[in-house]
Amino acid sequence: MTMAVNLKNRNFLTLKDFTPEEIEYLLDLAADVKDKKKKGIQVKQYQGSNIALVFEKTSTRTRCSFEVAAHDLGLGVTYLEPLSSQIGKKESIADTARVLGRMYEGIEYRGYGQEIVEELAKYAGVPVWNGLTNEYHPTQMLADLLTIREHLGRIKDVKLVYMGDARYNMGNSLMVACSKMGMHFTACTSKDYFPDAGLVEQCNEYAKASGGSVTLTEDVKTGTKDADVIYTDVWVSMGEPDEVWEERINRLSPYQVNKAVMDNASDSAIFMHCLPAFHDLKTKIGMEVYEKFGKEGLEVTDEVFESSQSVVFDEAENRMHTIKAVIMATLGV
Ligand code: CP
Ligand code: NVA
Repeated sequence: MTMAVNLKNRNFLTLKDFTPEEIEYLLDLAADVKDKKKKGIQVKQYQGSNIALVFEKTSTRTRCSFEVAAHDLGLGVTYLEPLSSQIGKKESIADTARVLGRMYEGIEYRGYGQEIVEELAKYAGVPVWNGLTNEYHPTQMLADLLTIREHLGRIKDVKLVYMGDARYNMGNSLMVACSKMGMHFTACTSKDYFPDAGLVEQCNEYAKASGGSVTLTEDVKTGTKDADVIYTDVWVSMGEPDEVWEERINRLSPYQVNKAVMDNASDSAIFMHCLPAFHDLKTKIGMEVYEKFGKEGLEVTDEVFESSQSVVFDEAENRMHTIKAVIMATLGV
C-alpha cells in the first residue's frame, strides 16, 4: 500500500481531483477491507461519529453500500430520501451544508448538477462524497477499477470500450478513470453521444501522462475489436424525460451489447454495467418500452447479461467495499 497518501478531510466529488497514486491507494484500501470482511475481522473504528446520506434521486446500490459500510465501521447513519428534506425548496444548498456540517462527520449527496455537490462541499466543512450527479459517478469508478483488477489481474493497458450514451455520468467518469490509470478508453457510439470536447481534451492530457489513450468512434467492429472490457449503461438516465426514449432507441440500438460484440472482443473479455440494467422484460420500464417499441433487451441482451463473461454482480458488491474505503480515507484511517 502507498504510505505517503493522506486523504483525510478531502471531498470525493470526481476522480479528476485525484492522482493515480491516490486512486490506487483507495483501491488497495478497499481490497484490504474486503479481505477483512470476508475473514470476519471487524473495523469498527468510527464509533461516535455519524454520516448523512442525501438522495435527490433513487438508488439501490449506492444507498445500501453507504449504509452497510457505515454500519460495518461503527458509524451512525441518517438517510434523507428524495423530496423528504427542505433541500433546494425551502433551504439553499449552502445553508443545508452548514447545518449538516454541524451534526455529521461526512455527507453523501446524490442529485442533479455537479455544481450542487460542489456547493455542498464548499460550505459543509466536512468531507462530501458524490453518490452520482448528471456529470459524474466517482464511487462507481472505484468499484469498476477494483473489479477489473480482480478479474484481469491488472488495470494498466486494459482496453475498455464504453457503448451507449457517453455524454453522461458513466461515460464521462469512465473516460476520466481510464485515462488517469493508463488504460485505453474507447467511446463507441453515435457521434451525438460522444463526451464533451473539453473533457475529452482534459482526458487526453491525463492519458499522455499515464500512457493510456482516448478514442471516439462510431464503428462497432473496429471500436470493440480485442477489447478487454465491454461496458454499457442505461440509454435514458434518472431525471431525463420519457420522451427521449424514442430517439435513444433509434440512435443507440446499433450500440447494443450483444453476442456479436462480445465475440469481436478479446477471448477473455468481461462485460460490465453499473446497474440497474434493462436486459429483459422483468421491470416496469422495460415492459413499457417493449410495448411501445417492441424491443426486448435494450443496452444489453439478456444472453450477454447472464453469460459467464458478465461480472456485474461482482461490480455491485465492490460498490460497498470501495465506498467503505472512501469513507475511511476521508474521515482518517
Ligand atoms: N450503480 C448505481 O449507482 O446503482 P444505484 O442507482 O442503485 O445506486
Ligand atoms: N446513467 C445512469 C447511472 C445509474 C447508476 C443514471 O444516471 O441514471
